[in-house]
Amino acid sequence: MSAFAAETFIKDHRLLPVQVPPTVIETLDAAEKAALVARIEHLLVERGAALVAHYYTSPELQELAEATGGYVSDSLDMARFGTECKASTLVVAGVRFMGETAKILNPEKRVLMPDLHAECSLDLGCPPEEFAAFCDQHPERTVVVYANTSAAVKARSDWVVTSGIALDLVRHLAERGEKLIWAPDRHLGAYVQRETGVDMLLWSGSCVVHEAFKADGLRKLRARHPDAKVLVHPESPLDVIAQADVVGSTTALVEAARTLPAKKFIVATDNALFHKMQQVAPDKIFLEAPTAGKGATCVSCAHCPWMAMNGLRNLAQVLETGANEILIDEAIRERAVQPIRRLLKFAEQRKQTVLGNNDA
Ligand code: 13P
Ligand code: SF4
Repeated sequence: MSAFAAETFIKDHRLLPVQVPPTVIETLDAAEKAALVARIEHLLVERGAALVAHYYTSPELQELAEATGGYVSDSLDMARFGTECKASTLVVAGVRFMGETAKILNPEKRVLMPDLHAECSLDLGCPPEEFAAFCDQHPERTVVVYANTSAAVKARSDWVVTSGIALDLVRHLAERGEKLIWAPDRHLGAYVQRETGVDMLLWSGSCVVHEAFKADGLRKLRARHPDAKVLVHPESPLDVIAQADVVGSTTALVEAARTLPAKKFIVATDNALFHKMQQVAPDKIFLEAPTAGKGATCVSCAHCPWMAMNGLRNLAQVLETGANEILIDEAIRERAVQPIRRLLKFAEQRKQTVLGNNDA
């Protein structure tokens, strides 16, 4: 891949400061953990609830979701599962936009989250009023927003996308001759822009986890492990993406780890994904792509501080009390549901096309 200057495509928009909490990992002894798991299993049945977890949550939560008929996946698939599952309550272990997406799509269901402070730097860096003003300045452009945004920002959009479908969707919109506003992730936006050549105005948000991956460190690590394939989530900077063998959503990266013949992988995404990668490819070796280094300038050190807010204790508590319910203003929900449904419909059509092509 050729070198690429992201800045040339970035609209002059100030970077919004985002407060990043420290990453606190829940610690439990074996007895405590076993007792909590048993209590949660019982409560999920009693409350008619399903646990839907993101790959970046702890191994305990992921295993519990899978063992109880719930689901673990990327943000696109979590949304899809929420609409298909019959449970009257969804407990979303992830970050708030994931809980909100579940509620927007399923207003009749109760949606709970272990911790409502589990935010996302992309969501926090894109306040609805400022974003609406930005869109109002460019009324001729189609507004495409990443799923990692608030309900109000989604309500102002024409399309919602996730990393798993971004390239396909932007190519589709380009075929219709549309020019875009893209928000909030400037790195993913710059990557999509480079791959598609589409005219996009980018909001200047970023993910604190992926932004910390360092191109120089990655180059050095690759030199020490020339046999390793490099897997990169597209929220990473372009000079990191440029070194990737595979760029994709969390699901795509897990799939690459499973299917590529390589034995060793360097992975630039939240290190919680290693749990699933190791499960699907137990004989393979996974190395963390370097951030600025522990104790230096990396803020998250390859693990999302907000994802880490999900634990067994607060999960048991919300199931017990019904606290931390996601509630969304109905007028906003009605507008936000349109671009999300458009996304799910588009994703389903793509899937059918791919399946059809494979059958042919
Ligand atoms: P995925 O949709 O690839 O799971 O990404 C969500 C996310 O928040 C990555 O940081
Ligand atoms: Fe948001 Fe980054 Fe955390 Fe994903 S890893 S939820 S994009 S802050």
